[in-house]
Amino acid sequence: MIPGSIRGRRLRRNETIRRLVRETELCPNDFIYPLFVEEGRGVRRPMASMPGIYNLSVDTAVEEAKRARELGIDAVLLFGIPPKKDEIGSSGWDPEGPVPRAIRAIKDAVPELVVIADVCLCEYTDHGHCGVLVDGDVDNDKTVPLLVREAIAYADAGADVVAPSDMMDGRVGAIRTALDDAGHTRVSILSYAVKYASAFYGPFREAAQSAPKQGDRRGYQMDPANVREALRMARRDVAEGADWILVKPALAYLDVIRVVREAVDVPVVAYNVSGEYSMLKAAAANGWIDGERAMLEALTSIKRAGAQRIVTYHALEAAALLAEV
Ligand code: PBG
Repeated sequence: MIPGSIRGRRLRRNETIRRLVRETELCPNDFIYPLFVEEGRGVRRPMASMPGIYNLSVDTAVEEAKRARELGIDAVLLFGIPPKKDEIGSSGWDPEGPVPRAIRAIKDAVPELVVIADVCLCEYTDHGHCGVLVDGDVDNDKTVPLLVREAIAYADAGADVVAPSDMMDGRVGAIRTALDDAGHTRVSILSYAVKYASAFYGPFREAAQSAPKQGDRRGYQMDPANVREALRMARRDVAEGADWILVKPALAYLDVIRVVREAVDVPVVAYNVSGEYSMLKAAAANGWIDGERAMLEALTSIKRAGAQRIVTYHALEAAALLAEV
């Protein structure tokens, strides 16, 4: 090779050339948009820690879902904030709870939009843990049947996908069996197989009022230091019947997304979580970074790492921005 003959700048000369050689491109249907639904009508309550994101009621969630669809987004992910919470999270499987009602209303108004329902008890328990407490510890095997009831309630309401985020062992297999027995063979399972015990969930817990009153989630969510464990969990959930796998959070775990993507052959989704969103928004609001560029760069990095789809609070803003160029 002639010394100095490799000149990377030849392919960076102008935007047309850069676009021709670009390896990763974002498009609106890369994004899955999370919605927080509560009781009431006409609710659109801004979240202090997440500018641009609102607590919604069923009617305003439908409006938001329509906007997402118009912007080219293919899926929403629903979370519920129930009017009352109890020890076992029983409003989680109430067919008249906010999530089943929102599923029916969204499927009715925008049938082609894929509706994913998050399955977990933390929004529904009065103690804020993701399962039933026995002697202060979340009891795995007492929790799984309750998650199954919740998943069935969402499938009955018309959810296309159920997404268990609780981190109990054995729930994917139990949910698959119960869905099939109930005739929901077409409902797929998006398993949060790889979910870390992360400080980046802070703003979400405020929005969903789901912070544990005592203790933390380290007894069921994964240790941020581990990556080999992620492969084991992803493979296990696929073996139990997960149709898709989710890795969460995204930005501090790009290496995990990459290896999980290589280890399993189901679609891999990454969750660009609330704290990641809030940090970027806070820095942008202070004028410390260019918010739009930082957003697209962060989302591009998640896709480049190997995520096929990205759950993100930036979905509407990013989709609108991509439509401009
Ligand atoms: C519920 C759940 C959490 C998130 C999604 N599902 C919170 C948690 O585990 O405490 C976090 C999402 C986010 O931070 O954006 N189990």
